[in-house]
Amino acid sequence: MSQFKGQSRLPKFAVPKRYDVRLRPDLVACQFVGSVAIDLDIVSDTRFIVLNAAELSVNPPAVSFTQLDSSKVFKPSKVDGFEDDGILVMEFEETIPVGLGVLAIGFQGILNDKMKGFYRSTYEHNGEKKNMAVTQFEPVDAKRCFPCWDEPACKATFKITLEDVPSELVALSNMPVSQEIVNGHRKTVSYQETPIMSTYLVAIVVGLFDYIEDHTSDGVKVRVYCQVGKENRGKFALQVAVKTLELYKKYFGVPYPLPKLDMVAIPDFSAGAMENYGLVTYRETALLFDDQHSSASVKQNVTITVAHELAHQWFGNLVTMEWWTHLWLNEGFATWVSYLATESLFPEWKIWTQFLDESTEGLKLDGLEESHPIEVEINHAAEVDEIFDAISYTKGASVIRMLQNYLGAAPFERSLAAYVKKHAYSNAKTEDLWAALEEGSGEPVNKLMNSWTQQKGYPVVSVEVKDQKLKFDQTQFLSSGSQGEGEWIVPITLCCGSYDLRKSFLLKTKSETLDIKEFLGCSIAETESGSMCNKNNTVCSWIKINVDQAGFYRVKYDEKLAATLRNAIQNKHLSATDRFGILDDSYALSMARQLSFASLLTLLAAYKEELDYTVLSNLISISQKLARIAADAIPELLDLINQFFIGLLQYSAEKLGWQPKPGESHLDAMLRGEVLTTLALFGHDLTINEARRRFHAYIDDRNTPLLPPDIRKAAYVAVMQTVTQSNRAGYDSLLRVYRESDQSEEKNRILGSLASCPDPDIILEVLNFLLTSEVRNQDAIFGLAVCSKGRETAWTWLKDNWEKISKTWGSGFLITRFVSAIVSPLASFEKVEEVEEFFKAHPNPAITRTLKQSIERVQINAKWVQSVQGEKDLPKVLKELASRKY
Ligand code: BES
Ligand code: ZN
Repeated sequence: MSQFKGQSRLPKFAVPKRYDVRLRPDLVACQFVGSVAIDLDIVSDTRFIVLNAAELSVNPPAVSFTQLDSSKVFKPSKVDGFEDDGILVMEFEETIPVGLGVLAIGFQGILNDKMKGFYRSTYEHNGEKKNMAVTQFEPVDAKRCFPCWDEPACKATFKITLEDVPSELVALSNMPVSQEIVNGHRKTVSYQETPIMSTYLVAIVVGLFDYIEDHTSDGVKVRVYCQVGKENRGKFALQVAVKTLELYKKYFGVPYPLPKLDMVAIPDFSAGAMENYGLVTYRETALLFDDQHSSASVKQNVTITVAHELAHQWFGNLVTMEWWTHLWLNEGFATWVSYLATESLFPEWKIWTQFLDESTEGLKLDGLEESHPIEVEINHAAEVDEIFDAISYTKGASVIRMLQNYLGAAPFERSLAAYVKKHAYSNAKTEDLWAALEEGSGEPVNKLMNSWTQQKGYPVVSVEVKDQKLKFDQTQFLSSGSQGEGEWIVPITLCCGSYDLRKSFLLKTKSETLDIKEFLGCSIAETESGSMCNKNNTVCSWIKINVDQAGFYRVKYDEKLAATLRNAIQNKHLSATDRFGILDDSYALSMARQLSFASLLTLLAAYKEELDYTVLSNLISISQKLARIAADAIPELLDLINQFFIGLLQYSAEKLGWQPKPGESHLDAMLRGEVLTTLALFGHDLTINEARRRFHAYIDDRNTPLLPPDIRKAAYVAVMQTVTQSNRAGYDSLLRVYRESDQSEEKNRILGSLASCPDPDIILEVLNFLLTSEVRNQDAIFGLAVCSKGRETAWTWLKDNWEKISKTWGSGFLITRFVSAIVSPLASFEKVEEVEEFFKAHPNPAITRTLKQSIERVQINAKWVQSVQGEKDLPKVLKELASRKY
């Protein structure tokens, strides 16, 4: 039997066709009793049936296999569970011959508190604490609820029945109810059989809820379930869902396949949301929006999350990845489509510009040597959790965007619809998607895309102008500054002096030189101040490569071209996406020590009148990271650096002010919050004082117009800047607001502000607070945003509490956030050693990949700190920049 141990995939002697699952959850004792009857097709004679089960106690006498033809019953001689692999092996004395039969298993389990499998979530109703029972099966936890073939390619139909449920509770599953038998205070609820689907998409929710309802134009019933009395907060998501379903029906060319769609807010939820077929579950902050008390960023998050999960109903649920190696087909694609839907619903949000904020997360992770290809080898189910990362999501979405740009929107849409039709109710691999796109477009998609999905990393394309020639060179970009081996087929696009003059070509080799006159139809006058391109006697003053940042690569310009781009930014000739790209690429090059800190700061100065939300938001996050590096490298210049960054934000801060303007844009509302928060973090006195004044008004009256949701975070951060052990009134007030609020959004906002306090004793207090029962396990990660001064405290705290953290979060992906949030900001070689040593003594397989990546980041920071220390002209440059009037 031990031949089945340590296996990544189940042997396929038997193929499941239909599951009849009966469950009796006890919400008070937090356990459940169940039985499952699985219709099996035995495809080769076997003495073993091997399937998945974990943390279930199976009663061997309650296991049998009944042959369909002969009604012969086979009883196993042995039933063994291999907990580490989540495998259940049944051995039979007699060989089971090929043919159909039914495998029946009785079992018991606990409603755990780990937010996976069949678990309990808690809420209050009329002041009383209650449990609800919820499932979260992706990636591989259906096996914690009932024995099954828990692999995405093992599709079957599911007939679910819940027994002995208190009659006042709402009991939901993927399909509509087919029968409900009430017997006094208890009821038995059966659901219609599902279409053929994967186990990870099966779902059950049992609890007390209110709902609101609407329907699509073709009659799909859509409901949002919220805690009792709070159903108003579901209205916005309901509208988004109805519109999005209609949009996807057109886009994918196939209607939504189920009769109903329920969306439920769950108080304890490890991911953001989960696309269970017909029963999508969400964190409260990803579903609930309150007109009066929610921020614009929550509104946007709800829209994108709903659009993402509904995209999965086609891409993922109807057509499912064949194995986890192709997870990106699910996640990358849903991410890309969610932006398409959001653009269509709210064009004023400029969501494709905001997509770059997402895309850069992919570039950052994929700039590490410890990254992985999009199509990633998975050898064991336990490795799956860690690949729900920026490679699968944002690099995945970015390469789809790049391809769509290259092929054109119409052939892309047509091919996708063909792909969905062809693989509906079945599974697909990456190459199946390429085949459909190749057929629909006539382009060699497979060859082009393999270079992006089968190897890790991406190129940096260096561009040089010399002797009327443009020279392009690709090398793999690595933040460590090392040379990588990769080579790609790169779709290069460029604009010269105006967006009317666009050119493109495929860079298929390491380097290519183009004759400017032939290619662009113009000449370049190489002047002292930079290259000038003359077209019809009009002067084209800049060349921008990777127009609109549609390609997943970085660009390094020679000094002359870079100077012309700085001018173009200052003179407002470039689009927001291109301004973003130049900034982001320069930051990355600086981290990789291919561009000096001084040059980067000089570039930042060109953004002093920036008002675009996405560009400024990236400028803000870059300046925070630079300030952190500066704190280690050049502490004596830190004040000057802060002064410079404060100066850069003056223009936008003055334009936006504190009070929202009537009818102002969604983007301005989000931007104001970020600008003010950052000014507070940089210690800008005027901002901090005004924030405190408004905060006090809020403490006196929670409905004051002085502190609308979009600027609350700024006020909280500002308050925490002056808190110390001996002056803790602001902190105590914030904790009071935390405790009184019934809104996850507000609680998370407070958690996200507390550790910005510069006092290490307070930081320690905050970190310890995260481990108390006052913070839900799902939310603790939001409190890890410690300020630069708190990094050491946080690292010590992580070590001191690792046992507890491992125990509580150790078997899901949330634990990876503890490691990345606390380890990655460290910036010395000593720390690299300390971290390696500590985790050698305290291994945890759930963080293998994340730990390597975080350590690499510390190394990169440490090298960066050293190189900044070596920049002799930095004080001079900085003094000049900081003294400029902004
Ligand atoms: N399928 C995922 C949920 C998931 C994530 C399950 C990780 C198991 C492990 C879902 O579709 C998803 O991607 N949710 C995102 C939200 C989305 C808007 C990016 C999430 O949970 O962050
Ligand atoms: Zn997803």
